[in-house]
Amino acid sequence: MNKKVTLIKHPLIQHKLTHIRKKDTNSKEFKEFLDEITRLMAYEVLKDIKLEEIEIETPIAKTTGFRIAEKVNLYPILRAGQGMVDGFTTTIPFARIGHIGMYRDEKTLQPVEYLFKYPKDTEKDTYNIIIDPMLATGGSAIAAIEKLKSNGIENLKFVALLGSQEAIDNITKKHPDVEIFICAIDPKLDENGYIVPGLGDAGDRIFGTK
Ligand code: PRP
Ligand code: URA
Repeated sequence: MNKKVTLIKHPLIQHKLTHIRKKDTNSKEFKEFLDEITRLMAYEVLKDIKLEEIEIETPIAKTTGFRIAEKVNLYPILRAGQGMVDGFTTTIPFARIGHIGMYRDEKTLQPVEYLFKYPKDTEKDTYNIIIDPMLATGGSAIAAIEKLKSNGIENLKFVALLGSQEAIDNITKKHPDVEIFICAIDPKLDENGYIVPGLGDAGDRIFGTK
């Protein structure tokens, strides 16, 4: 596996992911499981974030502690990426959020952009994390990565719940610098571009639109 792709196989995540995949899991449960998984993923995604030393006083003595020294920007790809925002902000409440509005045309499977709002403050020492639970063809992810790079936003990580091998290959070929964190890679897509076995349409399952 590409060194830039981290498959997070923690038992707690695999247990919750199995619930998410089930067709009988309702929208409330789906959102709760996605939120719990995102919180667990955040630990892995943020494991290299820079710290700086600070002096503090405990009730007993002076000592040296740490605080996070980098900014974090989250870029959910709407709609489904919004379902992973709370999981991240519970862990890192200071994160700023840029929204990338994008949907996949049902016939062509090409991404169509409809919104882009992002924090203007995009210094080099920022952890930039794109979030979207699903990587099917990888087209939406590639379009989002290119949108951010064309606005000077580099140093990108992509966090997804589930993807196809095809999507991983497409993204890593075009953007080998982008680190991907994902919980499962499924073997194929069906004739409508859905991941098999997958979990269905993440946006519809989160927002109850089907
Ligand atoms: C889904 C998903 C990704 C995209 C993945 O969004 O959340 O953004 O499809 O497919 P791709 O890898 O082939 O581009 P969708 O277009 O269904 O929009 P939605 O989240 O608003 O439902
Ligand atoms: N988008 C989804 O939400 N699910 C898929 O399987 C493919 C694209």
